[in-house]
Amino acid sequence: MKLVTILGSLNKDGSCANALKIVQSELALSDRIELVKIDPNDFNLPFPGQSDSNSDAKNLQQLLSDVSGIIISTPEYHGSFSSIIKLIIENLGFPSVLSGKPISLLGVASGSIGAIKSLEQLRSVCSHIGAIVLPGPVSIANVRSVFDINGNCLDKKVERRLKTLANEMMSYVEKHVCPKHPLEEQVRDNL
Ligand SMILES: Cc1cc2nc3c(=O)[nH]c(=O)nc-3n(C[C@H](O)[C@H](O)[C@H](O)COP(=O)(O)O)c2cc1C
Repeated sequence: MKLVTILGSLNKDGSCANALKIVQSELALSDRIELVKIDPNDFNLPFPGQSDSNSDAKNLQQLLSDVSGIIISTPEYHGSFSSIIKLIIENLGFPSVLSGKPISLLGVASGSIGAIKSLEQLRSVCSHIGAIVLPGPVSIANVRSVFDINGNCLDKKVERRLKTLANEMMSYVEKHVCPKHPLEEQVRDNL
């Protein structure tokens, strides 16, 4: 199964990237998964209404067209999800290539209430475009004290939640999108 993670910040070394790395490492443990990591720094995306002749919008749509599930991360910026995530969504077509696909959400915020507002708004937008937003988004509060200067997670509970997010997405996809072929189970048992 092909899963995609989307970094919701242009800050490659920021806390959003640090949190997403834990999810990515957990996904990488499964030999059934082909993991595609989308970093907005790698794409030139226009705003709606701008000419998109030299943009990467089509490449991005293609990358996401045949995926089984997507994990979107976002920092909280001014009480909402990041504008780069909105721009990515706006470049995914109308109707969106995300329509019908399962999506899990992860938000980080420096404040003590976490990224609740961002996640609620992002959930609403993702549902609006027809995605299936899985329950149990991860909201990391006080994020500046959760990761050290090298990006290591200092909070075991947060680390566990991030790994659970990855595992819940994998379980959903295995159950609803790409169920294991019975022969696959048999071959595995005989190894
Ligand atoms: C422009 C801007 C707006 C922010 N607004 C909020 C906010 O509304 N609530 C909050 O808790 N943190 C807010 N923060 C803090 C960020 O959520 C926090 O620094 C986060 O780690 C940024 O992640 P990143 O470095 O991976 O982009 C804001 C940060 C910036 C730069």
